[in-house]
Amino acid sequence: MSAQSFPPPIDLAIIGGTGVYAFPGLRNTQRHEVATRWGQPSSAIVTGEAAGKRIAFLARHGERHTIAPHRINYRANIDALHELGVRRIVGVNAVGGIRHDIGPRVLAIPDQLIDYTAGRISSFCDADGEPVLHIEFGEPYSDALRRGLLDAAKRAGVAVVAGGCYGATQGPRLETRAEIARLRRDGCDLVGMTGMPEAALARERGMDYACIAVVANWAAGCGPDPDAPISLDEIHAHLAAASGQVPVIVRELLAG
Ligand code: HPA
Repeated sequence: MSAQSFPPPIDLAIIGGTGVYAFPGLRNTQRHEVATRWGQPSSAIVTGEAAGKRIAFLARHGERHTIAPHRINYRANIDALHELGVRRIVGVNAVGGIRHDIGPRVLAIPDQLIDYTAGRISSFCDADGEPVLHIEFGEPYSDALRRGLLDAAKRAGVAVVAGGCYGATQGPRLETRAEIARLRRDGCDLVGMTGMPEAALARERGMDYACIAVVANWAAGCGPDPDAPISLDEIHAHLAAASGQVPVIVRELLAG
């Protein structure tokens, strides 16, 4: 009987957000078009090797950023990764900073979230007659994966804010100042549009999930000049500058 060679298991998946459409320097890449019961994921999933491990990459908004936050098929994305054998995911999310020390270009590894999204399909429990899951979600992110990222950032010499509460808004518009003031009163430190339902779906599938939040701008009415309008050019410049640290942290996590 001839020996059959299976690819090694996937150690980690990255779901890239705004400004992160590929994982740089991946070797021996393969593209996977994965169809799921829920439809097509946002993009082909690219697998390849980094730091001696096999990883998967998925572009959340599509490879040319054509899918708005509320139009993303979060279920297809999570299930496609699950079908490829992924069991832990790092979601990279562009955010606005609310807390005084979470300004543009800061990276944060949040430990809590509040979901303000509306009308998104947010569960795999979708058919009568199938078991209903009431996942435990008091700690929405995997503690082990969060700690792994924090340790990796430290070893790599990349500054990150440890902890913080991510407010997930519906978008695609940015928020009003009153909305951000409310999020601040609620205890949110950062605001983004894609953190949910991704985190909950990963938990429903039994996968470890953590978030690297990349701060693109001060949220509305925040920062040293609360009257300054938020410019898209500024957002893209900050993301381009700060996102480069993400693969540095991930490579260190894989190597560690
Ligand atoms: N609000 C919500 N999502 C975001 C922001 C913001 O200010 N910046 C980047 N993603």
